[in-house]
Amino acid sequence: MNSAPNDSDKGRVHIFDTTLRDGEQSPGISLNTSEKVEIAQQLARLGVDVIEAGFPITSPGDFEAVEQIARKVEGPVICGLARAQKGDIDAAWGAICDSERPRIHTFISTSDIHIEHQMRNSRDDVKVGARAAVAHAKSLCEDVEFSPMDATRADVEFTAEVCAIAVAEGATVVNIPDTVGYTTPEEYAEYFRRLYEFAPSLHDVELSVHCHDDLGLAVANSYAGLLAGARQVECAVNGIGERAGNCALEEIAMLLKVRGDAHGLHTGINSREIARTSRLVSRLTGYVVQPNKAIVGRNAFAHESGIHQDGVLKERSTFEIMDATEVGLDSNQIVLGKHSGRHALREALEKLGFVVEGEALNKAFSRFKEVADKKKQVTALDLEAIVSDEMRREDASYELVGFRVTAGSEIDPEASVEVALPDGGVGKGTAAGDGPVDSIFQAIRQATSVEAELREYQVAAVTGGEDALGQVTVVLRKDGASASGQGVATDILEASARAYVRAVSNLVADSAVKVADPDTATTP
Ligand code: KIV
Ligand code: ZN
Repeated sequence: MNSAPNDSDKGRVHIFDTTLRDGEQSPGISLNTSEKVEIAQQLARLGVDVIEAGFPITSPGDFEAVEQIARKVEGPVICGLARAQKGDIDAAWGAICDSERPRIHTFISTSDIHIEHQMRNSRDDVKVGARAAVAHAKSLCEDVEFSPMDATRADVEFTAEVCAIAVAEGATVVNIPDTVGYTTPEEYAEYFRRLYEFAPSLHDVELSVHCHDDLGLAVANSYAGLLAGARQVECAVNGIGERAGNCALEEIAMLLKVRGDAHGLHTGINSREIARTSRLVSRLTGYVVQPNKAIVGRNAFAHESGIHQDGVLKERSTFEIMDATEVGLDSNQIVLGKHSGRHALREALEKLGFVVEGEALNKAFSRFKEVADKKKQVTALDLEAIVSDEMRREDASYELVGFRVTAGSEIDPEASVEVALPDGGVGKGTAAGDGPVDSIFQAIRQATSVEAELREYQVAAVTGGEDALGQVTVVLRKDGASASGQGVATDILEASARAYVRAVSNLVADSAVKVADPDTATTP
């Protein structure tokens, strides 16, 4: 496939997206299968080369999501993660085998810290394990990626020896993870130099970087690894991932695009899809993007200082190194008005990349009319939010039927709700809480009989303006498991109620599919 050595284009960097695997390991994120497929389809539109769709052995839900992505998403390589164990590799293969371009990614730690304290075995065991894992993966799948986990804290000579074994057994890509975000750019580049020296066969395969952001260096380290010879970068949209997250896809992609002059590297990313991908991931994961976040934060292209504003008005390049249109941040033009019909809605949705037909179009249309009656103009961002919200409604086992709240400075708040239950019945609840939102949440708890702890509650506006749609994210926790839910409406109390009910659905769905795995402690 896309290994650099045979690639005549020596400067082409492959983007390996791990939003749905490492990114999904962030606390509180719980995406269901159709949300994962939706993200994977958008990643394909964005032009990533590889999608790491999940870790199939970890749960039947993860397996199903990877399998669906492998079947439905065309273009990128679809990769499944597996520890260096036969059962994991078989599960990964089972999930990805229907893809046109499958890849198995198998890993084992090479650092003494992990060998002694986590795996409790020896360096020899690691060599035997790596050899057997890559050989087995190769017997199933042509494209095999191998990662020596915690490589940057491991002895480089030993890691090189293990990587050489992986190459000898047929690995096509060797990834060098900075698992705990410990390395620095100079050190990481030097590590690559020494790896090539100790294991010259690494010149025959594609090397990859995988950096975590614990010290805020994930993008800088990834870039250093690319300059040192790697041609694949593992990254996640909005930088989500384990702990402080992974290298942010949008940052490394724009770094390679904007500073191409400095390094001669480039990717296949369609940068105009970046903003939309970021919004989709933020909306579905409930991870709000900080306003000053590079590339996709709402202030990333905003100028506050008078001197800067003056300069940009005279000549954009005075204070801007890229144009907002390059990352698709200009998509908020008004697209539809109150009198727009079904046909106009379908066309607008198609432009936004959503193919919505039949009953789904009817539902999207009536939701659009509800919103358009309250808002004067419905923008592309509103449409995106409405359609994603409608799509989530289809998967939900609980659904908000209606609610009523009384609140005010002289009135004790009280809420009544009705919720459609998975058994076909309707649950009712009435409660008085500290305020309208608390009352609604307590009433939903009664109506659904699902007791969970509220961990997060966030309200954001989809667009600017007084009539903006409100988008609410709720994270619930129960028996050690977390799940998030989002709701969109012109009324933030309604958005809050929807978000809470969705979180309940996700929590219940998750506990039904998650099977306790005695080895999850070894999940990277
Ligand atoms: O951080 C890590 O080491 C990983 C590996 C599985 C590549 O995520
Ligand atoms: Zn990782």
